[in-house]
Amino acid sequence: MSAGVRAHRREPPRERSKRLIILGLAVATCEHHGAALVIDGEIISAVEEERLNRQKHYGWSPPGRPGANLCNDPSLTLNDVMCRESVRHLLDERGLSLSDVDVIAVNGVPHRHHGARECVRDGRYLFVPHHLSHAALAARTSPWRSCNVLTVDGRGEYETAAFFTYRDGVLARQAELPAGDGRSLGGAYETVTRVIGFGPHGQGQTMALAAYGRPSSIRLAPAFSVRSFEDFELDERALQTLAEARTSPETELHDAANSNLAADIQEALEDALVALARDGQARAPSSQWAIAGGVALNCRANSVLRDALGVDLWVPSAAHDAGTALGAALEAAHLLGEPPCEPLRTAGLGPEIEGERARAALEARGLSPVEGDAIETAAERLAGGGVIGWAVGRLEYGPRALGFRSIVAHPGHSGVQDRVNAIKTRQRWRPFGPSVLEEHANAWFVDSDFGPFMTFTADVVPAQRERVSGVVHEDGSTRPQAVDQGTNPPWRALIEAFHQRSGVPMVLNTSFNGRDEAIVATEEQAVESALRLGLDGLVLGSCYVDLPGSAR
Ligand SMILES: [Fe+2]
Repeated sequence: MSAGVRAHRREPPRERSKRLIILGLAVATCEHHGAALVIDGEIISAVEEERLNRQKHYGWSPPGRPGANLCNDPSLTLNDVMCRESVRHLLDERGLSLSDVDVIAVNGVPHRHHGARECVRDGRYLFVPHHLSHAALAARTSPWRSCNVLTVDGRGEYETAAFFTYRDGVLARQAELPAGDGRSLGGAYETVTRVIGFGPHGQGQTMALAAYGRPSSIRLAPAFSVRSFEDFELDERALQTLAEARTSPETELHDAANSNLAADIQEALEDALVALARDGQARAPSSQWAIAGGVALNCRANSVLRDALGVDLWVPSAAHDAGTALGAALEAAHLLGEPPCEPLRTAGLGPEIEGERARAALEARGLSPVEGDAIETAAERLAGGGVIGWAVGRLEYGPRALGFRSIVAHPGHSGVQDRVNAIKTRQRWRPFGPSVLEEHANAWFVDSDFGPFMTFTADVVPAQRERVSGVVHEDGSTRPQAVDQGTNPPWRALIEAFHQRSGVPMVLNTSFNGRDEAIVATEEQAVESALRLGLDGLVLGSCYVDLPGSAR
């Protein structure tokens, strides 16, 4: 392979005699590997490896060296880290082979090109710096051609946060907060999450627990306080010491000490994001912002950031590392002179539920579809208090179920939160989010500017809380999805049919998986998971089945 060349200038538009096929790979960092396909600048498909190989948070690392990855270990090659199932699926679905791919865009710069801050072209490969891959996903799928972008995660090649301007389709890095040994914004939140006892992937639990505490980020300030890209304290070891002094392994997870600790780290993170974005505004003001990186999965922090800046904020569905497969591919498309893609309104980019396979999967377990319209039947069961599995259309790209692989219930049915938490083996105090018909959002939420991806919180109007108590968190907030008319017609039809029966224009919506499982992808997985979890019914493609053990 030839030595790489810096590739930061856009090539002139090419002659359109042949399609330009770009395969994006999220394989350069340690977790959440995946792949994406972009043809002639258009987003075709994307999938996370964990959904296909069934290993949640999957990323390949060499045995015995869990932190080693393509960016930091010179001994690793792309062949080592390649997410084979995702690549095979995306290519097979379009009748392509790897030799048909013109450019393979990778979400990070390998160690052999260490020091590069721009994209590096190396034969058929284009290596896109990790934070630029996050920024490209956020900016290039947004509704705008110009905005500001903040990226925040554990770490990329060098940085834990970066600020980019995006002007007329061109992304330019303006500032970064360098990562170091024990210096990471995502790492700081993870450190406190581990100390509380939620483990390495429990950040969502910390965010939920924070609603029960009384925050004072001052208590963590000696170890975690960010005022700008150049002025900060960020020391995970000191933070761990501070946190450990306030709790112990014997402490109940959901007690005041842990709740206050969760509230403190949540507020410290929110303060940090606001400070970094204000620093960005001082450098290059904009009324339109986008954010990505694993930290952008923190929907409460996103809402605080948007409101503090008084700007429009776009958060993609796959803000975490898996999303950088598509980000890298879109940046490559731009550099190769391709036209910009359409703003991305759907997360449904993965494998599709197919009618014949659906019927075969049901038949294999002796399940017969109920006669009549599947959506109307499901809505009737939901209105009666049933908890239903929903596997329809293309699998979501990103960690939230958004109406393609969901577990659905009546948000106000007596005991619904306890029942769904029991089904998913989650703590009783953890909240759920609703999916709401967008034209009704104003009547039910104080601020209805939350978009389609469950990436913001919103307060439920106090007078309505009783009617949807299963989706109202301790502080009166929830994490809603706005469901429009055209993006996902079956999902929209289900909520409309439920609304007609119940008078409530939303359903409780949580991901279709059990504890520590990846979200279901295929027809067979949906059937097996629905049976194992003890759901009352299942919509699979255009079929509805009542399941053994349901009330009917
Ligand atoms: Fe990342």
